[in-house]
Amino acid sequence: MSVLLAERITAGYGKVPIVQGVSVRAEVGQVVSIVGPNGAGKSTFLKAVFGLLRKVDGRVEVDGCDVSHLPPHRIAVSGMAYVPQVNNVFPSLSIVENLEMGAYTRRQGMRERIEEVLEIFPDLKAARSGRAGVLSGGQRNMLGMARALMLSPRVVLLDEPTAGLSPAYTTVVWKQVRRVAETGTGVVVVEQNVDLAVSHSDWTYVLVAGRNRLDGAASEVAKEDLSSIFLGGGGGNSTVSDGSQTGMGGEPMVANGS
Ligand SMILES: Nc1ncnc2c1ncn2[C@@H]1O[C@H](COP(=O)(O)OP(=O)(O)OP(=O)(O)O)[C@@H](O)[C@H]1O
Ligand SMILES: [Mg+2]
Repeated sequence: MSVLLAERITAGYGKVPIVQGVSVRAEVGQVVSIVGPNGAGKSTFLKAVFGLLRKVDGRVEVDGCDVSHLPPHRIAVSGMAYVPQVNNVFPSLSIVENLEMGAYTRRQGMRERIEEVLEIFPDLKAARSGRAGVLSGGQRNMLGMARALMLSPRVVLLDEPTAGLSPAYTTVVWKQVRRVAETGTGVVVVEQNVDLAVSHSDWTYVLVAGRNRLDGAASEVAKEDLSSIFLGGGGGNSTVSDGSQTGMGGEPMVANGS
């Protein structure tokens, strides 16, 4: 079952369309990665999906409900969470206070939810009363993720949660991403490092120059010559999937014929 359906999203800044007709889908319990060269429009796409940028065109559904025209705070209540690439925690607040901030609209079950979320992130649980400002970069990224889970979202969008982290911590963060998915949440992760993306996700989308270039089961995408695709070279017009995830609206996102 799809928890996120973003169809043919076109968006940008001012009049310039950065993202053109991009479609991405995420299923319950699945980790979906989005990769692509710098400036491909990955962050722009997430912002448009979360309602932070006005969409020129396209449709977004969360759990079957159309949220295309809702502002971010209403999209959040509808079951989507978004963790930006930078500045995703309040450094002067404690870990628990950061989690409370993530759920200020939640009327009931705040305490219980904090405990549930801390169970997923043992590092945070151990430091729960400490200030977020003393956390390492990786721990801060985890706190951003944890805060995003406070409203029990159906789908979480993470923009480069491993950027700038040591390889060891990167692995830790990816393990947490998997744990989040195992709670039944769909996770969409933008990742700079293609090898990490394909080895830790179920499905991978490749965006180049603001458009869908390729998508498929991560293990299949891993076999493609991605560096040449990133540079705009060949190989990108083949679908590497069995089509089970593509073909929204009856039309494959990437043409068949490898
Ligand atoms: N606030 C903005 N105003 C105008 N143009 C912007 C803005 N933010 C990004 N852009 C432009 O939009 C394009 C896509 O940027 P975006 O940040 O979405 O790419 P990205 O794929 O996330 O790249 P990266 O891998 O570097 O994070 C770039 O050409 C960028 O210069
Ligand atoms: Mg980005």
